[in-house]
Amino acid sequence: MYVCLCKGITDKHIRDSVDAGAGSFREVRRQLDLASQCGKCGIVAREIYDSYLNSY
Ligand code: FES
Repeated sequence: MYVCLCKGITDKHIRDSVDAGAGSFREVRRQLDLASQCGKCGIVAREIYDSYLNSY
């Protein structure tokens, strides 16, 4: 599912970033250049990040 339409970033990209060692949501954002354009995806992206961390 696309999370960030501006940058073409999916929920899988976010999970992969966590799996690759991103230690914070800020780091995920930086690695993927997420929410850097219109910013509308930030809240949903954060929810995906949090729920993935809680699934461990
Ligand atoms: Fe992510 Fe616009 S939808 S920056």
